[in-house]
Amino acid sequence: MNVTIFIDDALKTIQRGTVDRKSPFKLPALSSSIDNKVFQRIVVARRFIEHDQSLIIYTDHESQKYHQLKTNPLCSLLFWDSKKRLQVQVAGEAYFLDDKSDYWDKLNENQKKDYVINPLPGSEISSADGYSYDSTKPRFEVISIHFKTLDVLELSPDGHRRAKSILNKNDREDFWVAP
Ligand SMILES: Cc1cc2nc3c(=O)[nH]c(=O)nc-3n(C[C@H](O)[C@H](O)[C@H](O)COP(=O)(O)O)c2cc1C
Repeated sequence: MNVTIFIDDALKTIQRGTVDRKSPFKLPALSSSIDNKVFQRIVVARRFIEHDQSLIIYTDHESQKYHQLKTNPLCSLLFWDSKKRLQVQVAGEAYFLDDKSDYWDKLNENQKKDYVINPLPGSEISSADGYSYDSTKPRFEVISIHFKTLDVLELSPDGHRRAKSILNKNDREDFWVAP
């Protein structure tokens, strides 16, 4: 197996995850850090932009992750497909889209409600349903996570395979590593 094909396949699996609701790659864990503390959470992989190798996610302007990524854009994504026995670790850098209208317009009314929850995310409330969807200012944000490096691990009884990839602006360096 050629290492370039192995890395290409991993990137294709990430791309397919954005369009296939059943793919486990639809829901990666996103890690970020601030003040020497590390945080992680599940996010929806919305779109893969091939030309700059980046993944689009949506979030709330008032979420912790938004604040953390604004302060320190270096982050990582973790994907795991238990059927393919494929793990992909991505080191990335977050960029914030100014023009979000294309993405916002494609959301249905129910999805839009996630960005007008009152009070703000993480606020203490007196009961589980002690919130409403009536914030007047929507807090929808689109974050593009540009891939900087990949670490791809495929587990197999015939021998595990692991490779790394360093993604530069115009080229990519792929190499096998010991699993
Ligand atoms: C299946 C699933 C999908 C989620 N998708 C998103 C998402 O796309 N964007 C997001 O901001 N939070 C998403 N969340 C919620 C986050 O995991 C997290 O609980 C919330 O955003 C607060 O995170 P933070 O305080 O670290 O910012 C999702 C949670 C689950 C369980």
